[in-house]
Amino acid sequence: MEPNNTVKIITIVGARPNFMKAAPIIAAIRKHNERLAASPDLQNAEDSQLTLRHVLVHTGQHYDEAMSDRFFADLNIPKPDVHLGVGSGSHAAQTAEIMKRFEEVLLRERPDLLVVVGDVNSTLACTLVAAKISFDANGTRPLIAHVEAGLRSFDRGMPEEINRILTDHAADLLFVTEESGLRNLHEEGIPDGKVHFVGNTMIDSLLAFRDKADRSDILDKLRLRNHSGGHGSTNATARYALLTLHRPSNVDQRETFLNILEGLQELSQSCPVIFPVHPRTQKKLTEFGFERFFRTDNGSHQGGSPRSTQDDGRIRLVEPLGYLDFLCLMGHAAVVVTDSGGIQEETTCLGVPCVTVRENTERPITVKVGTNILAGTSKEGIRQATRRQLTSSRVSSTVPEAWDGKSAQRILDVICREIKKK
Ligand code: UD1
Repeated sequence: MEPNNTVKIITIVGARPNFMKAAPIIAAIRKHNERLAASPDLQNAEDSQLTLRHVLVHTGQHYDEAMSDRFFADLNIPKPDVHLGVGSGSHAAQTAEIMKRFEEVLLRERPDLLVVVGDVNSTLACTLVAAKISFDANGTRPLIAHVEAGLRSFDRGMPEEINRILTDHAADLLFVTEESGLRNLHEEGIPDGKVHFVGNTMIDSLLAFRDKADRSDILDKLRLRNHSGGHGSTNATARYALLTLHRPSNVDQRETFLNILEGLQELSQSCPVIFPVHPRTQKKLTEFGFERFFRTDNGSHQGGSPRSTQDDGRIRLVEPLGYLDFLCLMGHAAVVVTDSGGIQEETTCLGVPCVTVRENTERPITVKVGTNILAGTSKEGIRQATRRQLTSSRVSSTVPEAWDGKSAQRILDVICREIKKK
């Protein structure tokens, strides 16, 4: 610990799904320090409060403006203090490069605590470095806190599953979002004392930014308003579906990707399907010659009806969207079809029907109490699941326990308590 009860914390972000999970923690640290600065007596009190020095490290796993910078702006995340600029590569190359570059940062900064979130390669790479570092002859190293611990798909063919398991087993503080996480960690022999059920920081972001997202103009840009015109004109939102696909297991093999697209045809013939396309998926659909399923639409021409004659049942490809635009689109969709992990949770919180195009989920709470159903990846499975979600009257669901916007503060309370013990 630095002098004057100052504790240094490094938070790692690298890829798109990290940003909304880390943003509330960064905001909670800032608020903690502001409270302390506003009442210096807290610092001198017997049960003194810690001053938190925060260093934000971006690995650069994602680097396109649309995959990274826009999220910093939308989520009010400060500019990273350190940018490792790693970029894309094979799993081994990317993980190794992050490790090499992050080790230098860790040795220079010597933090008391490292916060890693989620399950991407950046999460595991930085965890491995911190678990083996030694700042002095006593082998001093930072505590490692893993936010979103304990999730398991039980599918080791999924790169994220390997990242989740290894990160959890190296971490010192494990922050869990749902009950299955508690069970999984217990069954893997992780001591209960390391595990803290805190809720979901991604939902902290959703609740904090929902109103702002509702003011986005994306529905107009994509002509998803029913402008009836004339007196008493209405501006109701059109009935549309929102699609995301980027899992290597879904888009990297031609046959699998084709099956999914054919399974979605019934849906795209019944309503507009908006598809903000991930760079990996864009490359694959071009490589496989699947352009016939899509038309490109970046909302350049405003006005008009939501279902133009150009639609003819094709899926509407749009550029990857920022956080606020995407949240707005999700909130108003009739159904969301996805293979993302986080979107299963966000739709559950919003009460929007979700179809997950995967055989398994590491987030079973979204199926158990939320709005999610697992469709698998067969044509028929996708057809049936989307039909079911669109025809059943509004899906009844509840929001999982502790998904209440206060998770980051709970995490910070545990962190301060544990660091004081050290
Ligand atoms: C990564 C995560 C995945 C997460 C996803 C969200 C891992 C193992 N996977 O997958 O868990 O759901 O992010 O998006 O960490 N690319 C660009 N621009 C970018 C970033 C990537 O064009 O800014 C392209 C590159 O061709 C790259 C490919 O996308 O090779 C894949 O990027 P990568 O970070 O390796 O994996 P994702 O598929 O994005």
